[in-house]
Amino acid sequence: MAELMKLHYEVNGDDFTRAGETSSKVKKTLNQLGFNPEVVRKVAIAMYEGEINMVIHADGGEIDVAIAPEKITVVMKDVGPGIPDLDMAMTEGFSTADHSVRELGFGAGMGLPNMKKYSDGLNIETELGKGTTVTLEFNA
Ligand SMILES: Nc1ncnc2c1ncn2[C@@H]1O[C@H](COP(=O)(O)OP(=O)(O)O)[C@@H](O)[C@H]1O
Ligand SMILES: [Mg+2]
Repeated sequence: MAELMKLHYEVNGDDFTRAGETSSKVKKTLNQLGFNPEVVRKVAIAMYEGEINMVIHADGGEIDVAIAPEKITVVMKDVGPGIPDLDMAMTEGFSTADHSVRELGFGAGMGLPNMKKYSDGLNIETELGKGTTVTLEFNA
């Protein structure tokens, strides 16, 4: 593969049926490039959670993926409401998702904890009323 592959995606904020499409596409690409299945699985799980968060908490956003032989970086940027208390948000089971979202099967409060668990680096920059940028890093 080339030294560095860059992918860019727009995540639609109001379409639950398409949430997860971007992580599926990246998973497929990483598999085609021959990355270790365990690494691909981690990227897919963590990225899926971030993508769902963009849809249910932030009205969508943009995802940039940089794929290098040794490292995969995923930057997920939204212009949503921001996260008021990051420590709280990182707590297992904590969720602000409302009833209608829970009925669709989202809002278990495990997204951010799992993004930390399945990545080799999680960085969250967030500002109230401005948005949130989540960066995930994976060692390939
Ligand atoms: N991109 C985001 N923008 C605003 N708030 C977010 C975002 N991602 C996560 N949050 C907040 O952090 C909480 C915890 O996120 P998460 O662990 O994924 O649980 P869940 O999505 O099931 O609620 C969410 O309920 C929400 O309040
Ligand atoms: Mg979530």
